[in-house]
Amino acid sequence: MRRGLFSASVLVGVASSPHMRQQSFTLLSLCWILPIVCPPPAALSDNPTTQDGADGLCQKTSVVILGAGVAGITAAQALSNQSIHDFIIVERNDYIGGRVAHTNFGFQPDGSPYTVELGANWVQGLGSEGGPENPIWTLAKIYNITNHFSNYSDILTYNETGAVDYTDLFDVFEDAYSIAEQTAGVYLRDNLQDTTMRVGMSISGWKPKKNMAAQAVEWWELDWETAQNPDSSAFVFGIVGFNSTFYQFSGENNFVFDERGFNAFIIGEASTFLRQNDSRLLLNTEVKNVTYSSDEVIIHNADGTCISASYAICTFSLGVLQNDVVPFNPPLPTWKRTAIESFHMGTYTKIFFQFNETFWDPDTQFFLYADPNQRGYFPVWQSLSTPGFLPGSNIIFVTVVGEESYRVEQQSDEETQAEAMAVLHQMFPEKNIPDPIAFMYPRWSLEPWAHGSYSDWATGVTLERHQNLRTNVDRLWFAGEAYSAEYFGFLQGAWFEGRDVGSRIAGLLGKECTNEDVNGNSAGACGPMKRYQVLHGTTREEEYDIANGWSASSFLTFGF
Ligand SMILES: *[C@@H]1O[C@H](CO)[C@@H](O)[C@H](O)[C@H]1NC(C)=O
Ligand SMILES: *[C@@H]1O[C@H](CO)[C@@H](O)[C@H](O)[C@H]1NC(C)=O
Ligand SMILES: *[C@@H]1O[C@H](CO)[C@@H](O)[C@H](O)[C@H]1NC(C)=O
Ligand SMILES: *[C@@H]1O[C@H](CO)[C@@H](O)[C@H](O)[C@H]1NC(C)=O
Ligand SMILES: *[C@@H]1O[C@H](CO)[C@@H](O)[C@H](O)[C@H]1NC(C)=O
Ligand SMILES: *[C@@H]1O[C@H](CO)[C@@H](O)[C@H](O)[C@H]1NC(C)=O
Ligand SMILES: *[C@@H]1O[C@H](CO)[C@@H](O)[C@H](O)[C@H]1NC(C)=O
Ligand SMILES: *[C@@H]1O[C@H](CO)[C@@H](O)[C@H](O)[C@H]1NC(C)=O
Repeated sequence: MRRGLFSASVLVGVASSPHMRQQSFTLLSLCWILPIVCPPPAALSDNPTTQDGADGLCQKTSVVILGAGVAGITAAQALSNQSIHDFIIVERNDYIGGRVAHTNFGFQPDGSPYTVELGANWVQGLGSEGGPENPIWTLAKIYNITNHFSNYSDILTYNETGAVDYTDLFDVFEDAYSIAEQTAGVYLRDNLQDTTMRVGMSISGWKPKKNMAAQAVEWWELDWETAQNPDSSAFVFGIVGFNSTFYQFSGENNFVFDERGFNAFIIGEASTFLRQNDSRLLLNTEVKNVTYSSDEVIIHNADGTCISASYAICTFSLGVLQNDVVPFNPPLPTWKRTAIESFHMGTYTKIFFQFNETFWDPDTQFFLYADPNQRGYFPVWQSLSTPGFLPGSNIIFVTVVGEESYRVEQQSDEETQAEAMAVLHQMFPEKNIPDPIAFMYPRWSLEPWAHGSYSDWATGVTLERHQNLRTNVDRLWFAGEAYSAEYFGFLQGAWFEGRDVGSRIAGLLGKECTNEDVNGNSAGACGPMKRYQVLHGTTREEEYDIANGWSASSFLTFGF
């Protein structure tokens, strides 16, 4: 079977650039200007308080949501949809969106800056006639998010001697991938032990060996999507992640370059249930610690305030949990910590340049560079100065991931710029390349509230172990992209998990839980989540169900 166009990654979060901090977001779109009925305002400012042991009075609420990214806002919307208005969203940053974050960059002819996305940047998998639609695509359309089709066939290839055509290797890779994805399907159905993407591709005939052009093609096809090396990425669940988005929805990836920022859709959704300056949204509020039990959760914030809730939904990134940023009391149980440590958090770094001219081919979207010595060294260059995007902007950016991200994060802008400029000189030896007039990149793994960009399914993680990652611990619940069994790493993963958890908690609070899978099955879709005390080494076919976060078959092909 032929594989669809490969996508570029995506769920990334925010940055440390000074531009970023200057931005402050308000609820721009208000309930009353949207074609949506506003809920009646809840009694908020006069929320009751409760005695918190030694610490005095805490504000009391039914549900506290930690994080105002896609998962947190969607969970709150799911509660609102069930007439639960008594919740509080705590957000460390001064804006809604989390790892969907943008900043000003460079200059337009009139002197005003462009807007570029530091994190999540694509709608991946749209929808097709007769098939389901990706909820992120639905929302991008509602909020008129400016986007354009990323054409992954629109690519020129280079190595250290300049332009060299090795595009034939894409076909070689994709032929092997077609075999690999079917093999992964057999593994899944026959309950065979998962392996690495490296092994899956090797047994399907793809062996790049020391051929650096083949290594560059492999990076483009795999690492660029997962922000991980194929030697540590899972095979079966990696293919599942690809199938669920690109075969179920569609093979298209649309790149977002909206001057309001991609998070305009999240702000828009928030404004369907939050009023302007709503006291249920606490921006600039850093969670200091989380105390949970089987009856309540108490959140202490760095500003000295505290919140006591019947339920908490923690949407911290996997990186934040892995780095023990916020202490839990009692400490999370061993089974939970093992699940957290077992999954991967990737880092995806876009390094932006604006020049005074477009010295590269202005009609081409992508430029792939094969370094002679180092795999993944400034490999994928993406032009925005191209028809359909921001023609005449003279902006191009290069992406690095994983170890290369960590390396460039440790060095100065000047050092990274010099390395990348040396690569451009190799790619375009005949050009007189001027110095950039603007240069910037985020340092995601150093962001204390993100510790990376998005998750990837590590080799050896079974569906049962992933379910232990998802599942609640007493009244403490978790939601976000990493908890999605089928859409981990994608915005839609954060959306589906936010809805799932919001709906379950609505059910527990005496309202309706509306969760079900795409076939209308709801066994195990509501109530506390399933957890495994004894883990099996593989995943039996009957376990692929909504109780384990599996809501659609990975064999669906509406999107072809
Ligand atoms: C809430 O309800 C609206 C209107 O039916 C729907 O469009 C939206 O998807 C729902 N949100 C969630 C998270 O279920
Ligand atoms: C999106 O654009 C359409 C057509 O221009 C307009 O009718 C609609 O109000 C816009 N929606 C939002 C949320 O801006
Ligand atoms: C994508 O790019 C290729 C190569 O330039 C071109 O042949 C093809 O028509 C483009 N596809 C679309 C949908 O623009
Ligand atoms: C992925 O989709 C392809 C195309 O439908 C199918 O052949 C393969 O078995 C699927 N693999 C998995 C793991 O779902
Ligand atoms: C929201 O807060 C801002 C800043 O304090 C204020 O200017 C504005 O009037 C408030 N809006 C509403 C609707 O209360
Ligand atoms: C949580 O933080 C508060 C406020 O700093 C402190 O009083 C309390 O002891 C902390 N609780 C735990 C369990 O660390
Ligand atoms: C780069 O391309 C040139 C021209 O095809 C070739 O001679 C050289 O061996 C390539 N470099 C590497 C490291 O493969
Ligand atoms: C860009 O800057 C370089 C170096 O200063 C200069 O040679 C070139 O003419 C400039 N290009 C344009 C289009 O101004």
